[in-house]
Amino acid sequence: NGSTEDDWFIGSIDQGTTSSRFIIFNRFTDPVASHQIEFENHYPHSGWHDHDPIDLIASVEKCIEKATEEFVSKGYKTSQIKAVGITNQRETTVCWDKNSGDPLCRAVVWPDTRTKELVRDLKSKPDADKLLELCGLPLSTYPSSVKLLWLIRNHDEVRKAYEESRLAFGTIDSWLIYKLNGGKDNNIHVTDTTNASRTMFMNLRTCEYDDELLSFFDIDRSKVDLPKIVPSSHPEAFGALASGPLKGTKIAGCLGDQSSALVGHCGFKPGHAKNTYGTGCFLLYNVGSEPVISKYGLLATVAYDFGEGQKAYALEGSIAVAGSGVKFLMNNLGFVRDSSKVGELAESVPDNGGVVFVTAFSGLFAPYWIDDAKGTLFGITQHTQKGHIARATLEATCFQTRAILEAMEKDSGHKLGGLAVDGGMSNSDITMQTQADISVIKVERPEMRESTALGAAIAAGLATKGCWSSMPELYDLTQNKPGRKIFEPVGNPKKIKLMYNRWERAVEMSRGWVRN
Ligand code: G3P
Repeated sequence: NGSTEDDWFIGSIDQGTTSSRFIIFNRFTDPVASHQIEFENHYPHSGWHDHDPIDLIASVEKCIEKATEEFVSKGYKTSQIKAVGITNQRETTVCWDKNSGDPLCRAVVWPDTRTKELVRDLKSKPDADKLLELCGLPLSTYPSSVKLLWLIRNHDEVRKAYEESRLAFGTIDSWLIYKLNGGKDNNIHVTDTTNASRTMFMNLRTCEYDDELLSFFDIDRSKVDLPKIVPSSHPEAFGALASGPLKGTKIAGCLGDQSSALVGHCGFKPGHAKNTYGTGCFLLYNVGSEPVISKYGLLATVAYDFGEGQKAYALEGSIAVAGSGVKFLMNNLGFVRDSSKVGELAESVPDNGGVVFVTAFSGLFAPYWIDDAKGTLFGITQHTQKGHIARATLEATCFQTRAILEAMEKDSGHKLGGLAVDGGMSNSDITMQTQADISVIKVERPEMRESTALGAAIAAGLATKGCWSSMPELYDLTQNKPGRKIFEPVGNPKKIKLMYNRWERAVEMSRGWVRN
């Protein structure tokens, strides 16, 4: 392998909505070994979306085992892995019994909309309009707060545990850290600032739990253990792996996956932005050391918290459906056997043939926030082929990204010069060219697109002696790598304007068409 005994590596756990991964990076930020496992997503009722918390931790442990096996087979030693970082799907809510360490129910996954009615009621409370200013998030079905409140009110086991003060709450990072540290025996119950900023329980400025927010959501802190909020990069706070081939290795970094992708792109300066096309699609724009509360439907969130004056905030545009739209075409409609073939299907037609697909499977997130929108296909005729629908599915994410970019421009007063991209759908040239054309922006795709996993490795490496020492060092290391592909906007402005106008009309028409 050409490496020496002094070479060091950092492992990264990436626990996403559809799969878990473990990737081992070398000091040059290149992946050298990895393993990925898909687990089951449960949709027990329309609008519900569950994960089994045991599946998540089991898949993570298996990935660590398999990737480490590959690493060792390449001639490296496990002792060369200096630390591990964690990055995770955000908002997804886990409840467990702090006495037994076992889950009390399935995790409620971030796009789940069972809380729709609850959110409608909460919006009518007198203090509802104060929330955005305090925590940066609009009231919707998306954050953890409403998921936890729903479980306390509607799930017998959770309610009982709450009444008996043995309920532990956490987002996926907290659950994994707790279990990886050995569960109830060591009882490490923490979260990092970026993940905590997605709960709606954390004050965005103090980065501590806020009593006003907790009382708005009717949460009594004496009855539920909330994870302690710690910085995203820390040598001690996250404990160490209690078992497996990397037993004893410190967990030294933790970031919500979208923050992690921004870090993985080395978006350390105000004005840096990235768009990650995963299950959903999330555009984060670094706004510097003070939060910017959006007036145009974006979220204010913590970009990363590397301690002592090294904290940055971001404006975020969250799109609930991106890769999950492609999965829908594959699994529900049987259009293709492999998601990588959707691009080819889209290319089988010259344009969308007048079809617009508002993929509002979980309502519509930023910048619209329409909880009761439903997925709606417009413009179907006898001429419509699968290719048109595939194209319209890819375009939906691109249109919503454009709406987010316009909101960002209004909030920040700046037009973005370019957009760094990563995630599954970014592998598709046609999607990235469509994005450049529709948003009239330069799209930059790096060769190494494991930005999310790399971000958590960076957080862990920065907290570990003898590894990376600064953000500028990492910036220099990553920015000049070969293989970066640029997609310049080349679309016909008149045609693009027409397409975007149609999209905006379609969004309006997808609103509230099912009334209870
Ligand atoms: O906020 C939800 C987000 O963190 C999920 O990310 O990569 O699973 O689409 P992803």
